Amino acid sequence: MNNKICMVTGANSGIGKAAAGQFARLGATTVLVCRNEKKGKAAQEEIKTQTGNQSIELFLADLSSLESVRMLASDYKQKHDKLHVLVNNAAVVEGSRVVTKDGLEEVFVVNYLSQFLLTNLLLDTLKASAPARIVNVTSSVHAEINFEDLQMERGYNAIKSYGQSKLAQILFMGELAERLAGSGVTVNCVHPGAVRTHLGDEGGIVGIGIRIARPFYMSPEKGAETLVYVSTSPEVEGATGKYFYKKKERPAPFNKDDANHLWDVSMKLSGLSS
Ligand SMILES: NC(=O)c1ccc[n+]([C@@H]2O[C@H](COP(=O)([O-])OP(=O)(O)OC[C@H]3O[C@@H](n4cnc5c(N)ncnc54)[C@H](OP(=O)(O)O)[C@@H]3O)[C@@H](O)[C@H]2O)c1
Repeated sequence: MNNKICMVTGANSGIGKAAAGQFARLGATTVLVCRNEKKGKAAQEEIKTQTGNQSIELFLADLSSLESVRMLASDYKQKHDKLHVLVNNAAVVEGSRVVTKDGLEEVFVVNYLSQFLLTNLLLDTLKASAPARIVNVTSSVHAEINFEDLQMERGYNAIKSYGQSKLAQILFMGELAERLAGSGVTVNCVHPGAVRTHLGDEGGIVGIGIRIARPFYMSPEKGAETLVYVSTSPEVEGATGKYFYKKKERPAPFNKDDANHLWDVSMKLSGLSS
């Protein structure tokens, strides 16, 4: 991965930090996207020290804010004209409904809409770097997308909001793969498995369940392996529109009508179209 640039969102913790470390070990210039400067700098220093790779960059962005996502894309493009791997990894689980400053439900924005916006804003840079790969870190937890109440104003539930956001990532991936055909840019989803991280710390009752089961989960380093494989391995070169678990392609819950509908709604909500 020498002379390649890999960006990882949510890179100060858990699977994102472990993946960033693995990209750094492979020689890539590794871009950490974090919301908290102190945690981001600590991760940056740790990865530099542990891997010996000094090309570890930190970009600060709060992915619950669409303005912050726009600034991230703009700051990145001012510094770089290439991006070879984009890993959309950051996520939250919220025990109760949180509304962002854009008036949207937070889990939907952090886990899905921000990556829809960031990916679209970086597409020209990815295409200019082809072959390039986009990897969305999703989950095996999926909940139906209720287009009548996408922001969950009429009945919030932590598992439903998380599951909706994770299914949205898969629909986005499938739709984007079709739109990117022939561009040299691929897009896939990865389910990392059950991994010992901070996910669920804010998850209320759901979070308590996750914390009880955590000691039995795999390490973040192990949990990052499939996403690094899908991001870098020659074995999956050209694969696109796929869902991977344990380095193998698995069936994904993709529905073309829902994917089209979600794309149109997301264009409007993210401000990419009026
Ligand atoms: N752990 C599992 O068992 C599991 C299973 C299936 C899928 N996944 C997926 O794996 C991915 C990584 O999660 P993880 O388990 O490694 O959890 P984690 O340790 O909680 O890491 C999540 C990362 O996202 C960041 N983040 C959250 N909100 C943000 C925001 N508004 N702006 C910018 N960054 C934000 C966090 O930053 P802070 O440190 O500042 O909060 C953190 O760096 C997620 O997509 C998750 O859905 C995990």
